[in-house]
Amino acid sequence: MRAREIYVPERINRQWLIAKRPEGRPTAETFRWAETHAPVPGEGQFLARNLWYSFDPTQSFLVGRADRPEAESGAIPIGEPMRGFSVSEVLESKHPGFRPGDIVHCHMGWEDYSVSDGQGFAPAYRVPDGVPPNWALGALGITGLAAYFGVCEVARPKPGETFVISGAAGGVGSIAVQMAKIRGLRVVGIAGGPAKCDWLLREAGADGAIDHKSQDVGRRLTELCPDGIDIFFDNDGGPTLDLALERLRGGGRVVLCGGTSRYAFAPPPPGPSNLLQLVMVNGRMEGLLARDYLPRLSDAADVMLPLLRSGRLKSKEDVLVGLRNAPAALARLYTGSNVGKQLLRMDDAPAG
Ligand SMILES: NC(=O)c1ccc[n+]([C@@H]2O[C@H](COP(=O)([O-])OP(=O)(O)OC[C@H]3O[C@@H](n4cnc5c(N)ncnc54)[C@H](OP(=O)(O)O)[C@@H]3O)[C@@H](O)[C@H]2O)c1
Repeated sequence: MRAREIYVPERINRQWLIAKRPEGRPTAETFRWAETHAPVPGEGQFLARNLWYSFDPTQSFLVGRADRPEAESGAIPIGEPMRGFSVSEVLESKHPGFRPGDIVHCHMGWEDYSVSDGQGFAPAYRVPDGVPPNWALGALGITGLAAYFGVCEVARPKPGETFVISGAAGGVGSIAVQMAKIRGLRVVGIAGGPAKCDWLLREAGADGAIDHKSQDVGRRLTELCPDGIDIFFDNDGGPTLDLALERLRGGGRVVLCGGTSRYAFAPPPPGPSNLLQLVMVNGRMEGLLARDYLPRLSDAADVMLPLLRSGRLKSKEDVLVGLRNAPAALARLYTGSNVGKQLLRMDDAPAG
């Protein structure tokens, strides 16, 4: 008797490909929708279904820019899928480190199905049991690592000090503000718009909030920090750094986390004009790269997971649903529309 043929439905892979380099920030025309067949994993690779995506302003570097020399840009080649951090479910594996059913944090294409060797932009790792995908990409992902280690280690906080942060109501900022409060600091957050400032004051526990869209940031910093600033946590990389340096107290620290104002905007704002202030106050400025802290993720999770579960640390998220919305989710970062961590849940993925 002939063996019964089993019908395996073909996996259609919907994708967003890089269509062209934008002049400045990525737009809808930057990406092109495509449908193809799901890839097949080779030796040392696994096939995964992508469930959730994270969005980060540095993705503009992956998109590239029309005015940047192609060879030097490090951008994803035209015609290939756009990429981002994802939480994905392993379906098939020829990789010794991953099994079908594993839920992994990786850097994948904007598509239904991806293959990975677990290497690349950041190594893939299994999401610990009990950690929902939204937390794995936000408070307990690269975003949370930047906030946690930026505040708790690089800033060397001492209770009672004054902590000022730009991009305060975004992914990194929303966690950093709350961790700074938990570490006993006086916190002033700078964000764009009344809704974000309201969230900072009412939900995140900030002591002061400055709306950079409607207020004079320098004047408000002087009002809210009459004795100066001990720690400035910079997410913007723009002119706020000058204003903070002017007000830095003796032994003050500046944590350089990001530069959203520089990534996708042409021309970028001028660099800081008063770095010598660091000399006058024996100050220190230090950058951090969260990816390098991945081996210490469990240290951060040991502290943050109980805080998240108890509700003392709130995971503020801005979630769009459906792969079709991926370009829109990215665009929200550059218009400042996102409140909290910008995420996207795939159409049929489980909720967080
Ligand atoms: N060092 C690391 O390893 C690491 C890791 C993760 C993220 N980062 C960096 O941290 C920063 C925050 O990242 P995130 O993912 O949390 O993003 P986010 O703050 O959630 O989103 C970006 C925010 O930047 C602000 N913005 C937009 N356009 C701007 C402009 N032209 N000038 C100044 N601000 C602008 C907007 O907030 P407002 O309008 O409210 O200001 C917007 O909501 C980014 O620079 C990111 O690259 C660094």
